[in-house]
Amino acid sequence: MQMIRLDRVCKAYRQGEQELLALDNVSLEVDQGEFVAIVGPSGSGKSTLMNTIGLLDVPTTGTYTLDGVATEKMSDNQMAELRNRKIGFIFQQFNLLPKLNCIENVELPMIYNGIDRKMRRELAVQVLESLGMGRHLTHRPNQLSGGQQQRVAIARALALAPALILADEPTGALDSKTGNEVLELLMELNEKGNTIVLITHDNHIAEKAKRKVSIRDGCIVEDVRVRDEVAATVLDEVML
Ligand SMILES: Nc1ncnc2c1ncn2[C@@H]1O[C@H](COP(=O)(O)OP(=O)(O)OP(=O)(O)O)[C@@H](O)[C@H]1O
Ligand SMILES: [Mg+2]
Repeated sequence: MQMIRLDRVCKAYRQGEQELLALDNVSLEVDQGEFVAIVGPSGSGKSTLMNTIGLLDVPTTGTYTLDGVATEKMSDNQMAELRNRKIGFIFQQFNLLPKLNCIENVELPMIYNGIDRKMRRELAVQVLESLGMGRHLTHRPNQLSGGQQQRVAIARALALAPALILADEPTGALDSKTGNEVLELLMELNEKGNTIVLITHDNHIAEKAKRKVSIRDGCIVEDVRVRDEVAATVLDEVML
């Protein structure tokens, strides 16, 4: 079952007189249930790739199919509807609304999806509690630590049980201990069946994923299955 299929995707940006290819002929397939880390230096095209996968941006050329749905002929409204239904986003800067408490922040995407007030509240409380935020339900972001804020952002991403979770440097603004906790949370979600694409410039974090895709100058230069490699090594040893 394929979640993501990018076929020869290019994304061109105009910079003054020049054209810059932020994505240069990228083809990528990700199956349901995978945990993929996208790594690469600053400016290599990671966020452009995530925005494309997240239907926040459209390719200049090439095609993108999300969970079996071809997106190239869609209107902005259709893309937004598909995005809301299928994708949960987690960002480096959490992107919580400062005037809303935890419950209200988590409820926000549910409002766009037309879920009624009572159901919204129940789902928000449930997902916040499941992430260990039960004691902070009515706190505002500025009353929380960075790690707690990221948990609220993850709760918001998860509330509608999206098929795909996209995380752009989710641990970038956290200290290493809290960052590891967030990473472990993502690994748990993946164990439960969520498909995760995580963007990072940190190789240590990427090693925790099952698959590592390296991008440079808008091109995929490497695509390796991290844990499969470990399994293969173990298997080699057993066979010997
Ligand atoms: N809206 C835009 N207009 C023009 N150029 C852009 C735009 N967005 C990105 N770029 C360019 O595309 C290239 C890739 O940018 P992108 O943000 O995808 O990199 P990145 O790998 O996410 O970097 P970082 O690790 O710093 O976040 C860069 O050269 C950038 O300057
Ligand atoms: Mg980026």
